[in-house]
Amino acid sequence: MPSTATCTVLGIESSCDETGVALVRAEAGERTPVLLAQALHSQAAMHEAYGGVVPELASRDHIRRLLPLTRQVLADAALSRADIDLIAYTRGPGLAGALLVGAGAAVALGASLGRPALGVHHLEGHLLSPFLAEPAGDDRLSFPFLALLVSGGHTQLLTVRAVGDYELLGESIDDAAGEAFDKSAKLIGLGYPGGPALSRLAETGNPRAFAMPRPLLHSGDLDFSFAGLKTAVATQWRKLGADPSDQQRADLAASTQAAIVDVLTAKALSALERSGLKTLVVAGGVGANRPLRERLGVGASKLGARVFHPPLALCTDNGAMIAMAGALRWQRGLLDGSSAGLGFDVRPRWPLGEIAAVS
Ligand code: KG4
Ligand code: ZN
Repeated sequence: MPSTATCTVLGIESSCDETGVALVRAEAGERTPVLLAQALHSQAAMHEAYGGVVPELASRDHIRRLLPLTRQVLADAALSRADIDLIAYTRGPGLAGALLVGAGAAVALGASLGRPALGVHHLEGHLLSPFLAEPAGDDRLSFPFLALLVSGGHTQLLTVRAVGDYELLGESIDDAAGEAFDKSAKLIGLGYPGGPALSRLAETGNPRAFAMPRPLLHSGDLDFSFAGLKTAVATQWRKLGADPSDQQRADLAASTQAAIVDVLTAKALSALERSGLKTLVVAGGVGANRPLRERLGVGASKLGARVFHPPLALCTDNGAMIAMAGALRWQRGLLDGSSAGLGFDVRPRWPLGEIAAVS
């Protein structure tokens, strides 16, 4: 168990194309840690010209941004470096070079301050991110809960029994939901990242205009498949000819979004029903999608369950979720794998199921 009464955690996220830094303060015991400050720099504009993330550019930009963002959150929280008790950084999964920047900064800062650096699993950060939106009183999010994790790289349903105790119930056998949004958006001429753009365009479209496939909807298990959707989008797009109208583009966006949302909703609600759990957490970038939030909210309430989300701005990658994961781990004495010296490594491929097995 923690030996001191409070712990101020600096969180660093650099697994992909967002540099995120945040400060979270935890008290020993059960009380939910509190977000003190957070700062984020998105590299989306830099990668847009290439239609996707360029790993080398991502690493270089993380190097440029990390220390200024760290200074910014310390200033915003009116703290100094000496107030930091623990540094939590994203150890994986993600782009190797990008991860190394965050890990290097975290471990070097920890060594200079005489504080430990803890390598956090990126998906654990997403899973625990709704604790950043903790409402007061009896409405607190508590374990166990079912989680729908929908990001650019992952689509998973999990039972979250406790911090560090995750059971995978089902996942995508090919593309992630975010990838389906991004690739479809690219096909119909929207920028990168396409998810938010496709969702915006869909607002003026008819979701029934095109019959899009809903793969594995009736498979009886909790797995997903989205790779076929982009072929369907490409086929419809081609049929529209060289100069589709704005309405046709919006209709295709709305029909594509409806297919993704239908499958995610049906599987998440089915998992909720099967598990008997009464709490659903929706995390990861696609969790920002409004129709998905609405459908899950309505469906869960019919099952007598409640849905928890991170604050909208913290659905996509950020340092606050990494700091929160570090703080919740500190409260429970789960700091295995933290490094008090200069040794560190990253795990670009790191299955969440191996989290407990890491030294
Ligand atoms: O969690 P995240 O920031 O990064 C990963 O860990 O992958 O998720 C990014 C993904 C991207 O695919 C992006 O297009 C998608 O989340 N996304 C959305 C929305 N906002 C972000 N997809 C659909 N609707 C949105 N509003
Ligand atoms: Zn993520």
